[in-house]
Amino acid sequence: MKHYFIKTFGCQMNVYDSERIAGILQNLGYREAAAPKDADLIIFNTCHIREKAAEKVFSDLGRINLIKEERRQQGLDTVIGVVGCVVQAEDEQIAKRAPFVDFATGPLTYHRIPEILAKIGRQKGAPVIDTDFPAESKFDYLPQNDNRSSCAFLAVQEGCNNFCTYCVVPYTRGAEYSRPVKEVVAEARQLVQNGALEINLLGQNVNSYHGEDTAGKERPLSYLLRELARIDGLQRLRYTTSYPADMTDDLIECHHDLDKLMPYLHLPVQSGSDRILKAMNRRHTSADYLRVVEKLHKANPAIGMSSDFIVGFPGETDEDFRATLDVVNRVKYIQAFSFKYSRRAGTPAALLKNQVEEKVKKERLDILQDLLFSYQLKFNKSSIGKVMPVLFESKGRGRSQLFGRTPYMQNLHAELDKNFLNKIVNIKITEAATNSLIGVVEG
Ligand code: SAH
Ligand code: SF4
Ligand code: F3S
Repeated sequence: MKHYFIKTFGCQMNVYDSERIAGILQNLGYREAAAPKDADLIIFNTCHIREKAAEKVFSDLGRINLIKEERRQQGLDTVIGVVGCVVQAEDEQIAKRAPFVDFATGPLTYHRIPEILAKIGRQKGAPVIDTDFPAESKFDYLPQNDNRSSCAFLAVQEGCNNFCTYCVVPYTRGAEYSRPVKEVVAEARQLVQNGALEINLLGQNVNSYHGEDTAGKERPLSYLLRELARIDGLQRLRYTTSYPADMTDDLIECHHDLDKLMPYLHLPVQSGSDRILKAMNRRHTSADYLRVVEKLHKANPAIGMSSDFIVGFPGETDEDFRATLDVVNRVKYIQAFSFKYSRRAGTPAALLKNQVEEKVKKERLDILQDLLFSYQLKFNKSSIGKVMPVLFESKGRGRSQLFGRTPYMQNLHAELDKNFLNKIVNIKITEAATNSLIGVVEG
C-alpha cells in the first residue's frame, strides 16, 4: 500500500485544499503516512503571500530532497509534488531551484493529480508542471468531501478581482468564482452527516459570493448563510475572509437573524489612513470601515471584530501609521494579524519608489502589535468567570487535555475526558492569556 504526506503552508483555503487532495489520494488507494520518511508521495501545499512564506517553501523542499535521497538508498522511490500559490507564481523557479520536484500544479488544477501521477509513472525525468487557469471548475472533478472533523472548512468562493496593489492572490488564485448554491449545500450536508457541528465558509473574498441557484439566479452570501442555517445538526456557522466594501446590509442582517452565525467577524482593514488605503487600491476609507463595524454592532451587540494589518506600505508616514492605531483604538479588536509590508514581484506596489525602511517597519509593527495584544488580552481577561459554549475539536497539549474554541474563536484548553471531543460543552473560563483561555466544565 502506498502512503502520502501533505505539508500545508498559508491560509485556511490551503488547509481545505489539502483535505481535498488527501481525499483524491485516498480514492487512489493511498493512506496517510505519519512522517515524510514513510511516504511514497510527499506534497507541499504552498503559500506565496509574503517573501518569508515563499522562501520557507524552498528551504523546506531542500530538506525533503534529503529524505528522498535516504529513501533511494533503501531502494524506495519517492514522488515529490508542489501545489498551491507558489506554483502559480514561480513555476520556472521551482524547476530551477528544486529540480528534484516531480510535479507542480497550481491551486485551481489539483483535481488533475491522478492524471499527473500516471504521467510521472510513464515519463521519468523532467517535472510535470501544470499552471493552467482551467475553464472547468475543479469542484466538478473532486471526489465527495469526506472530511470527518467536527469543525470543518468549506470553500464557497475562490479567487479575487480586487487587485490590492500589494497582493499576489489575484494572480495566484485567478478571477473570482462562486460555487453554485446547490453544490455548497450538498457539501455542507455531507460534512454535517460526517459529524461537523461547525462549518466555516471560505473564500479569498467570501462576501463577494454570487453563486447560482437551481434557476440560474445569482444569490449573495446572505442567501447561502440562511440556506445553510436550516441544516439540522449544524450548530455553528462562520465565514472568512470578507472585504469591507462588500459588507452589504443583507449580510449584516444575518448577524442579527441567525443564531447559528457566530458573533465574530474577521474583516481586514489593512490601514487606517485613507491616503494609504487609496494607494493600496482598497475600495473603502477608514470612515466607511468604521460605519460597517457600527452596523454590525447594531445587528449583534455581542460581536467581536478581527482584522489584518499591513505596516510600512510604500509611502506610509508616521501620521498614516497613527491613523491605523486610531482605528484599532476605536474598534478594539479581540484578535488580529499584522504584517510588515513585503514587496512582491509582479504587484504594482513593488514598483513604487518610496519603499519604507526595514527598521521603520519593524518599529511600527512592534507598536501596533503591543496595542493589538493589549486589547486581545483585555477581552480574554473579561471572559474570566463567564460560561461559554466551547467546541472541542482536537486533543490538547497535555495528555488529558482537549483543545476547543469559544464562539469568539478564542483558543481554549481544558482538562477533560476524551468523551467530550467533538462536542459543544458549556465551559466556565478560569484563566486567560493573550492567546488562550483555560476553563472547566460548568455544573
Ligand atoms: N483573502 C484574504 C487575503 C489573504 S492574504 C483577504 O482578502 O483578506 C492575508 C493577509 O496578508 C492580507 O489581509 C494582508 O494583510 C496580508 N498581506 C497580503 N499581501 C501582503 C504583502 N505583500 N505584504 C504583507 N502582508 C500582506
Ligand atoms: Fe489580496 Fe486584496 Fe484580494 Fe484580499 S482583497 S485577496 S488582500 S487582492
Ligand atoms: Fe497564501 Fe495563496 Fe492563501 S498566497 S494566503 S495560500 S491564497
